[in-house]
Amino acid sequence: MPRDVVTLVLRNVDLGHGNWLLEFDAEGAAAGMRPGQFFMIGVPGSDVLLRRPFSVCGLPGTFADGAPGAVQVLYRVYGRGTALLASLGRGARLSVLGPLGHGFTPPRAQGAIPLFVAGGIGSAPFPAFAAELRALGFAPEMHYGARTATELPLLDWFASSCAPLAVATQDGTSGTRGLVTVPLEERLAAADRARLHLYACGPTPMLKAVGRLALRSGVVCDLALEAPMACGFGVCLGCVLPTHGPGPNEVRYERVCIDGPVMRAERMAW
Ligand SMILES: Cc1cc2nc3c(=O)[nH]c(=O)nc-3n(C[C@H](O)[C@H](O)[C@H](O)COP(=O)(O)OP(=O)(O)OC[C@H]3O[C@@H](n4cnc5c(N)ncnc54)[C@H](O)[C@@H]3O)c2cc1C
Ligand code: FES
Repeated sequence: MPRDVVTLVLRNVDLGHGNWLLEFDAEGAAAGMRPGQFFMIGVPGSDVLLRRPFSVCGLPGTFADGAPGAVQVLYRVYGRGTALLASLGRGARLSVLGPLGHGFTPPRAQGAIPLFVAGGIGSAPFPAFAAELRALGFAPEMHYGARTATELPLLDWFASSCAPLAVATQDGTSGTRGLVTVPLEERLAAADRARLHLYACGPTPMLKAVGRLALRSGVVCDLALEAPMACGFGVCLGCVLPTHGPGPNEVRYERVCIDGPVMRAERMAW
């Protein structure tokens, strides 16, 4: 059940190169929250009126140094809302609505291999999910891509939590040079691909490419979608994306905020 609270910033850590990790007192809002779900976060009294959506990155227990009952959000500064967030220090007030949407579901089959595919700040929902999967006995792999090395936040954390971890940058400053879909395509050619369950989050062109590869290889694939959002709970219709309808060639529009943000790749009509 989503809660709408005004709460306090506990930490707002500059990870460098425009990447930040915000920790706030969830005041019970994290109870029962799933990795992949998100919060709408705003700053009361500021001139940025609409709250902005952010995936939960860390739930209680995900990060060893997290305060009890606190959650973390990993964010990248893009515009006014995220610049305002980055200016906040300990004790600043936040208006937080959540948890919202449908999150990730662990693989059903024992022996399945969860494989995260993250594009840049799209890695945000994976720490909480990695921690959950490891506690359930799964060993997540990760393919982490970005334009350049500075856009791979929490790389050390992922290196110690996901194995193997394949890194790809378009300018070759970290890992292999090129798109993250190149090592992914190689991984999907391996003999054990029937055991894979892909979970992808990142820019829409990357999600489309990962979804296409997964469908072509017959691998289950869940996409954590992004769309600009105003309300986060289904009333503004600002976040719709086309999905396949029940009939042949039928397209319908679903709301990423309440029908997603996590959706099966084959559901998307893009
Ligand atoms: C379900 C969901 C979860 C998200 N989780 C995270 C997260 O964990 N960490 C994080 O850093 N960001 C996340 N985002 C994106 C985040 O909401 C935007 O970066 C933020 O709203 C930008 O606000 P702003 O005021 O700084 O920028 P604006 O001034 O609103 O926009 C600045 C630029 O960012 C672009 N932009 C805005 N929103 C999005 C978006 N949703 N997708 C792609 N481009 C966008 C705009 O087109 C513009 O070019 C998530 C988005 C969704 C829908
Ligand atoms: S954000 Fe308002 S309907 Fe989805």
